[in-house]
Amino acid sequence: MEKVLSGKPVATLLDKATARLIAEYGLVPQMLLIQVGSDPASAYYVQSIIKHGTKLGCKTTLKQLPESTSEKELLDFIYAANADPTIHGIMIQKPLPKHISDNSINFSINPDKDLDCLHPINLGKIVIEADGLLPCTPAAVYYLMRYYQIDPIGKNLVILGRSSVVGKPMANILLWKKAFTNATVTVCHSKTSYLKDITSNADILIAAIGRGNFVSSDMVKENVILLDVGINEIINDEGIAKYVGDIDYNSCLDKAMAITPVPGGIGRITTSVLFLNLIQACLTQLGVNKTVDEIITFIFNANHEDN
Ligand SMILES: NC(=O)c1ccc[n+]([C@@H]2O[C@H](COP(=O)([O-])OP(=O)(O)OC[C@H]3O[C@@H](n4cnc5c(N)ncnc54)[C@H](OP(=O)(O)O)[C@@H]3O)[C@@H](O)[C@H]2O)c1
Repeated sequence: MEKVLSGKPVATLLDKATARLIAEYGLVPQMLLIQVGSDPASAYYVQSIIKHGTKLGCKTTLKQLPESTSEKELLDFIYAANADPTIHGIMIQKPLPKHISDNSINFSINPDKDLDCLHPINLGKIVIEADGLLPCTPAAVYYLMRYYQIDPIGKNLVILGRSSVVGKPMANILLWKKAFTNATVTVCHSKTSYLKDITSNADILIAAIGRGNFVSSDMVKENVILLDVGINEIINDEGIAKYVGDIDYNSCLDKAMAITPVPGGIGRITTSVLFLNLIQACLTQLGVNKTVDEIITFIFNANHEDN
């Protein structure tokens, strides 16, 4: 296994699978991307999603709503998109303004069009290992593990962070009984005591806490595998903004068996999963149900056929 686990080949593989499914089924997939407010980081991400989709032959319709949008206005908008047969997937850019309840919005999305797996039905399917859409970031980690043959079976796997979009669904996926799961999972959060004792025992550590360079080399053991979900903006000594992960890459590099970089690691894969989810949603709406295993087989066969 490579020491630095780039997300690029994994993203390329997913994009290849997406393009093949579009061609094979003659799809005209359309995503509705909703952004409320004008957070600059969100605006940047939204533009990169649109560009990526165009490259893959998917249409992305952006609906930008003002910060003052009420919860009811947003809900009405989502209900209209749920009923529109030309929209196959809905992605709502987070964070939402504070006056809008995440839960109300998550409950309102048609589960078949719920591209980031926010609806409780989709989260529940992950818990019971039923087929369905996978949340983009945890799926990006899972596909990276499969690509680099990181099998967590029997391993002590620690996740830092318990959010509903990353930490909790990640833990549930890695508790599955499929290939490249079966981990023994510990989930830590801001109230965890003796954090360093727990992280120091991890064979595989997944960090998703939103604290730049938080995990230092003294918190991990030799030959650990470090998977960094964090994307944090920091201003360097020259006053220039740059992005770092939750893991202190430079201090941990020597000690780790393998580590994902930031940028260029997990984050590089997430947008590709989003479009793969759009295709899966589009197929479901056409009455073609693909199981998680079928999608995975399709992705990894696409690789072998080209090699
Ligand atoms: N790569 C991607 O595509 C992608 C996608 C989504 C998010 N992200 C990044 O991933 C990171 C996490 O995102 P998120 O949405 O999950 O964040 P979040 O909703 O803010 O959740 C952060 C989690 O980390 C825990 N935490 C915070 N400080 C901690 C500490 N000192 N020790 C232990 N646990 C701590 C929190 O604990 P409590 O629950 O106790 O508050 C919470 O569970 C962010 O950097 C975000 O930018 C990346």
